[in-house]
Amino acid sequence: MATNVLIAYYSSYGHTATMAQSVAEGARSESGTEVRVMRIPELEEARRAMSGQEWYNKAQEAQASIPEVTHDDLRWADGIIWGMPTRYGNMPAQVKQFLDTTGALWANGELEDKATGIFTSTATIHGGQETTIITGLVPLLHLGMIFVGTPYGQNPHILTTDGIGGSPYGPGTMAGGDGSRQPEERELLTARNLGSRVAKVSARLKSLRATQEHGQQPDAPQYEGQ
Ligand SMILES: Cc1cc2nc3c(=O)[nH]c(=O)nc-3n(C[C@H](O)[C@H](O)[C@H](O)COP(=O)(O)O)c2cc1C
Repeated sequence: MATNVLIAYYSSYGHTATMAQSVAEGARSESGTEVRVMRIPELEEARRAMSGQEWYNKAQEAQASIPEVTHDDLRWADGIIWGMPTRYGNMPAQVKQFLDTTGALWANGELEDKATGIFTSTATIHGGQETTIITGLVPLLHLGMIFVGTPYGQNPHILTTDGIGGSPYGPGTMAGGDGSRQPEERELLTARNLGSRVAKVSARLKSLRATQEHGQQPDAPQYEGQ
């Protein structure tokens, strides 16, 4: 049975959208994984505030063919990876608004025990690379999801003093003050690594659930000498 991984993201200027495609690439690299990349809907107030900006309009046009995420996509997924550019060190209102529509899913425990991860984008290196992911995790824990980060062992390139995005909490890129910086290869690599790690963890959790639903005990670990 396929493992379903959903990448649900919001992006004003396209940086998070680019990272989403790399996360998807990583998830697809795990055999037996079905991947959906979907947009979190724009808010009318934000569209009004930003529609005078050429870069915003171009990025929105470029994403127009990406379908908007629904609750059924959340139900379909065994693992959900969220893309959220920072707003004052926190998730954007678009993502919060979408999460705030999931009360019925929460009440029924429908997202419990699904793997999750977060990737982000900031303007600057201290603008919220880490806080956006850490604070973004809070509602996901209420929903009962199991958080997957991007540890140093698999991502030695984030153990650096260079000005790149990404941390053990999750992938990140930087847009720069004027939005002109684009994701670089090490940031995209961390994004791919999150995609493949969430796909792997989702598959394991799914098989564990299937075993338990059939009333069997999961295999006991075997130790040397047994
Ligand atoms: C209202 C607002 C608040 C923002 N706050 C921050 C911030 O606290 N720190 C930061 O580095 N960038 C901040 N930014 C910049 C965005 O994070 C940046 O435009 C975004 O990461 C680009 O990603 P995107 O192309 O996917 O939209 C802010 C942008 C807006 C519109």
